[in-house]
Amino acid sequence: MATSIVIVETPESQQLLIQKANASLSLQGSIRVPGDKSISHRALMLGAIAQGETTVEGLLLGEDPRSTASCFRALGAEISELNTERVRVQGAGIGQLIEPANILDAGNSGTTIRLMLGLLAGQPGQFFSVTGDASLRSRPMSRVVKPLRQMGAQIWGRQDGNLAPLAIQGQHLRPIHYHSPIASAQVKSCILLAGLMTEGETTVTEPALSRDHSERMLRAFGAQLSIDPETHSVTITGPAQLHGQPVIVPGDISSAAFWLVAGSIVPDSDLVIENVGVNPTRTGILEALAMMEADIELQNQREVAGEPVADLRVRHRQLKACEIGGDLIPRLIDEIPILAVAAAFAQGTTVIRDAAELRVKESDRLAVMAHQLNRLGARVTELPDGLEITGGTPLTGAEVDSHDDHRVAMSLAIAGLNAAGTTTINRAEAAAISYPNFTATLQQICREG
Ligand code: S3P
Repeated sequence: MATSIVIVETPESQQLLIQKANASLSLQGSIRVPGDKSISHRALMLGAIAQGETTVEGLLLGEDPRSTASCFRALGAEISELNTERVRVQGAGIGQLIEPANILDAGNSGTTIRLMLGLLAGQPGQFFSVTGDASLRSRPMSRVVKPLRQMGAQIWGRQDGNLAPLAIQGQHLRPIHYHSPIASAQVKSCILLAGLMTEGETTVTEPALSRDHSERMLRAFGAQLSIDPETHSVTITGPAQLHGQPVIVPGDISSAAFWLVAGSIVPDSDLVIENVGVNPTRTGILEALAMMEADIELQNQREVAGEPVADLRVRHRQLKACEIGGDLIPRLIDEIPILAVAAAFAQGTTVIRDAAELRVKESDRLAVMAHQLNRLGARVTELPDGLEITGGTPLTGAEVDSHDDHRVAMSLAIAGLNAAGTTTINRAEAAAISYPNFTATLQQICREG
């Protein structure tokens, strides 16, 4: 019997079944991952508020960027049908978004709602309501509502504006210097976008550096930005007019991370993942896997449209435990679920700390990953701000659940590749948020020896 990877449709959702054969399995081939989710959102949003045309190549066709596109269409931007070849965005111009007649729905996407709030808050005289799915409606918005209110924004919602649905009455905003208590690119980007529409300098200072795609793209679109790397501060000078640009979106390192870990833990594997964005604010996963002694090579390093890109070759090697925390966390924040899988197969005890932010992602990723990996026989202890994972116990297939979290669904599928018997992942359709072809790629690279 060969290993089989099957999707079973149930009336409510999808199950992904990984049925491991006795014959040896390895992962082989050259693959591409979908476009970077963070860059895709920003290309659509900056395109929507710029003057003139923005073209986007390599856009992620996942559900999250679709939420961004539908919100900004409702706000008056012309966005062509989404495809990976070339999406055209005809911008409305700064401060020129129109008041939609209906509620804006950000779906599952924290980046959509938080960045969009920065733009809506500074549209004087217009009223907006924004919401999202059950997960998004339980995630904290006060992290952006608080600084926006300091700028003069009027926002209402449950828990004093912490929870969507939110109502926004657009105002003339004033610039601020905001010292963010968390390293969050969503908070930073929201304030910078609001700062675009104010008179003067708006500064955000973070405790550690978060991803800098907004800074890079705002500059490329013509905004005046100064960055102080010593203090992790960014200043934008408003009011600024943006000009439409061609954007090329590299492959998402957060999606590549699943294959980097899969190739590391499945014996005899040898995979090349082409065209992956390796922006230094995102490469924490490469550093963590290097600490674990993974065999990963960066090939053909180049710069594409203002973002560093490389091909990543990964070959199987026994991983070792490591300790992860501090400033590294914001640089691998979305990769912690799959790192937990890597740790379950590493020799020794891996400790991940300073990662309490994971509790307010699409699911409580610390609780969910600990519980689901333990169902497969792993030894994972949940810490208040992280995970402690003792690797080396062989995993056995079981029924697990994604909790509607895309990164959990895919992480569990990779764990299932190395578990004996059948692993069933319930609510596996969540993967389509960031990786619509995940299962097809998984099927494509599996080789039976
Ligand atoms: C993102 C920032 C991160 C990350 C999210 C995407 C972005 O969130 O987890 O998937 O595109 O700005 P935080 O800013 O909340 O850390």
